[in-house]
Amino acid sequence: MLALKVEKKRAQTAKEWLVQKGILASGVKALRDDAYVYFAVTKKTETPFDASFTQKTFEATPTVPSFRKALEDRLGKKLAEAATASFDTIGETAIIEVRDEHKTWAKKIASALLDSNPKIKTVLGKASAMQGEYRVRKLVWLAGKKTFDVTYRESGCVMAFDLRKTYFSTRLSFERGRIASKVKPRENVLALFAGVGPFALVIAKKQPACHVVAIELNPYAAKTMQENVQRNHAQNVTAIQGDVRKVLKDYAQWADRVTMPLPHTGHDFLQDAISATKSGGVIHFYGFGGEKEGVYRNALSSIRRAGQKTKVKCRVLEKRVVRPYAPSVYQVVVDFKVTR
Ligand SMILES: C[S@@+](CC[C@H](N)C(=O)[O-])C[C@H]1O[C@@H](n2cnc3c(N)ncnc32)[C@H](O)[C@@H]1O
Repeated sequence: MLALKVEKKRAQTAKEWLVQKGILASGVKALRDDAYVYFAVTKKTETPFDASFTQKTFEATPTVPSFRKALEDRLGKKLAEAATASFDTIGETAIIEVRDEHKTWAKKIASALLDSNPKIKTVLGKASAMQGEYRVRKLVWLAGKKTFDVTYRESGCVMAFDLRKTYFSTRLSFERGRIASKVKPRENVLALFAGVGPFALVIAKKQPACHVVAIELNPYAAKTMQENVQRNHAQNVTAIQGDVRKVLKDYAQWADRVTMPLPHTGHDFLQDAISATKSGGVIHFYGFGGEKEGVYRNALSSIRRAGQKTKVKCRVLEKRVVRPYAPSVYQVVVDFKVTR
């Protein structure tokens, strides 16, 4: 069977990515040897991390039905073929997005998902888009244990939070690892728009000799971030509840590195972020871009404008597509260096 071979240290990232892509084969267990993990996959595709494809013999786990089979048991063969739902997992919880025309089947789809994935204990449904200043979405409980609380692990950090009260996305895990690996000892890092702390914690864990100041407006998320800081004994993280614009006034030219994961409106805060950055410091700026005009165009022009307004030189170091966001629209990140 076709298998994706990844180094052990990348196994979690790879698994999340395969689930997100929908190409992790169900009904079989991953294999391990001393250095690598092998995931059964349904097709070959490019990966955003180091990995290769090979052939392996996997042991079937016959007691767990495939999602398709579990769905057929509930909806019948014909309807099961039509029913589709994409989902993300956060800890033991799956969040599914059921297409409008399939909403009446939502509970059945959720229960099929539960039966076909023993590690999933709760299934929630998206009931709105991410909305408001806090970027929170409405969720409804659909199947399994009735809870909105999750415990999530990433890069050796543990975070616990209520999914209804804060933004959270596992889809940024690769980004967090990418940035954390760039941080050098004694760097001052500003984790803006910090949520429950994933960027701050992953960076602080990977580079214990740096100091991270993490700023978040949503009082629930900020309080939870503080709890997560304690949970992870992250003594090099200072969690602050407040508006980035106000808090940054105390951090003029303080940062060697700034993360700005607020793609909808982050451009409004670029001048403040630049003012908080030392000469030679780096800003990781997230934005959206359409295929038609070029995915980086919006982000690059926001950076150029902010550089002119603050009279600093902004030199682009790296740019990459983070993930597809909507048809022909992508979330992107541009890393740029500030020189005064
Ligand atoms: C897209 S989320 C990213 C959260 C987190 N970094 C993560 O990856 O899970 C953006 C976060 O920015 C926060 N936010 C929005 N405006 C803010 C502001 N003016 N100052 C501080 N935080 C803000 C929101 O409450 C939200 O938690």
